[in-house]
Amino acid sequence: MTDGLRRPARVGIFDSGTGGLSILRHLDSQTSGLRALYLADNRYLPYGDKPTSWLERRAATLTSVLLERGADLVLVACNTATTHTIAALRTRWPDVPFVGVEPGIKPAARLSRNHNVAVMATPATIQSQRLRQLIDEHAGDAEIHLVPCPGLADAIERADDVALSPLLDQTAQRLLATRADTVVLGCTHYPLIADRLAERLGPKVHLIDTAPAVVRRVQHLLGMTPHSRTPTHTEPVQLQVLCTGDAAQIDRALLRWLDTAVHCTHLDLPEATTST
Ligand code: DGL
Repeated sequence: MTDGLRRPARVGIFDSGTGGLSILRHLDSQTSGLRALYLADNRYLPYGDKPTSWLERRAATLTSVLLERGADLVLVACNTATTHTIAALRTRWPDVPFVGVEPGIKPAARLSRNHNVAVMATPATIQSQRLRQLIDEHAGDAEIHLVPCPGLADAIERADDVALSPLLDQTAQRLLATRADTVVLGCTHYPLIADRLAERLGPKVHLIDTAPAVVRRVQHLLGMTPHSRTPTHTEPVQLQVLCTGDAAQIDRALLRWLDTAVHCTHLDLPEATTST
């Protein structure tokens, strides 16, 4: 958990926006004495309509920023970026520990009782080779229904209820039409509205969020053990937040999803400087 100077380890985290807060809130509740630097690339949200070449360049730029600022581990808190770029990031920085977030095909296939699993994700994640590979390796005898959700991460990011409510209605109808009893939340924005989706899907449909597994992987790589749940032993994550777009919007999301008044700092990181 600490380096030779007894400084807490620093986790660098990036996402297209505030979806990664769905991972960070688990990290906060499960670890003690950790520093986190969260970089929201909200100038370029959504990632879900971007090609692999663009995502690879952008992920490398964001990783460079996090490493320059002292990250000991990089958490790619975005399914779209993970499925399209984490292999290239690991090749470029072989000594850096990377943790990614991928659609939970394996736990969903194990859990489904009617062998019908639906995966909701961004269009880019749905089209990724990595998702096909995960399905080939882990779906077993489960039928996998792919449900791309264009615009959903965007509406969650903007907390735009006028757009969000009908999108959730439509998404729930599409999911129910698959008859899946298990739904994979294949985008880190979706756990933020999981309760609203669950209301629409009813109690017989199980939602899969891989955040707890991701946090266990971070703890393992940093040599941490989950903290005692005794409040006197817990220390909240020391959080610093940067963003490339509207900082006020990120501040509102931090308050809403993490109940924290930490202020986000704007970082000018235009696409033109995205050279690898
Ligand atoms: N939160 C992201 C994911 O997990 C990306 C959403 C987007 O920007 O399209 O896929």
